[in-house]
Amino acid sequence: MAEDLNADRLTEAVADSFDDTADPRLRQVLQSLTRHLHAFINEVELTYEEWEAGVDFLTRTGKTCTETRQEFILLSDVLGASMLVETLNDVHTPEATASTVLGPFHMIDSPRRGLGEHISPQSAGQLCVVHGHVRDSRGAAIAAALVDVWQANADGFYDVQQPGVQDEGNGRALLTTDESGRFYFQSVVPSYYPIPTDGPVGELLSATGRHEFRPAHIHFIVTAPGYRELTTHIFVNDSKYMDSDAVFAVKESLVRDFVARPAGTPNPCGISEGFVEAQIDLVLHYDGMESTL
Ligand code: BEZ
Ligand code: FE
Repeated sequence: MAEDLNADRLTEAVADSFDDTADPRLRQVLQSLTRHLHAFINEVELTYEEWEAGVDFLTRTGKTCTETRQEFILLSDVLGASMLVETLNDVHTPEATASTVLGPFHMIDSPRRGLGEHISPQSAGQLCVVHGHVRDSRGAAIAAALVDVWQANADGFYDVQQPGVQDEGNGRALLTTDESGRFYFQSVVPSYYPIPTDGPVGELLSATGRHEFRPAHIHFIVTAPGYRELTTHIFVNDSKYMDSDAVFAVKESLVRDFVARPAGTPNPCGISEGFVEAQIDLVLHYDGMESTL
């Protein structure tokens, strides 16, 4: 006859039910998930109404997702889960530039642009020059690396958030490093901005008195054959919210001064007026030879 399970026996019965999982990693993840989930329910003594509210919240989170919106990733972001995964995985590549969250705005292809071009030609604001090298951990230049860049404008909006104001591709570029691994572009200094709050994640933030802002930053994805893809940002030093990023994604090594340069300062973009300048070298982890298949 089946026996009634008390709370402890229930947890172990569920964990044991995964004992025959063929994939050992899947078994480990599911058994650990079971034990942590049950421990959480025990710790807070979850009521039936709270369980229902949780199911409703997750259901609405799923229903908010579309082709161009991923509310579950946003939830992971505001709970710090995305950043914890980034940080744990960065441990394996300590020589590489630190990674940080992808975010939801890399949803369209960046237009190919030449080195030195203005990547936000429709945006007003403080002109900036951003430059650096893509290299490996021994300092060797990586020529022909692809540097995908995207950013908000000086009002804190990405192109895809302002149809009719910005064309798609404003604030974006796909650059190719030159033979010395160098990349450079001109743009406007982005503003801090709010993450999307018109869905369940916004409800969670307002119910808990948390703000929705991210400090000013520019996103990068860097790829080169044989190297681990790098997803990162540079953060504009002194930006508001640097100490309270809504998605916990600031790493000190990614914060850069945007240094004022007077008119006439030599620069790789051929700008004659004054601008601010930021520099970052993007260091990739060598992953092995490119497949010849
Ligand atoms: C972003 O930087 O684009 C972003 C990252 C995480 C959540 C929302 C936005
Ligand atoms: Fe962003």
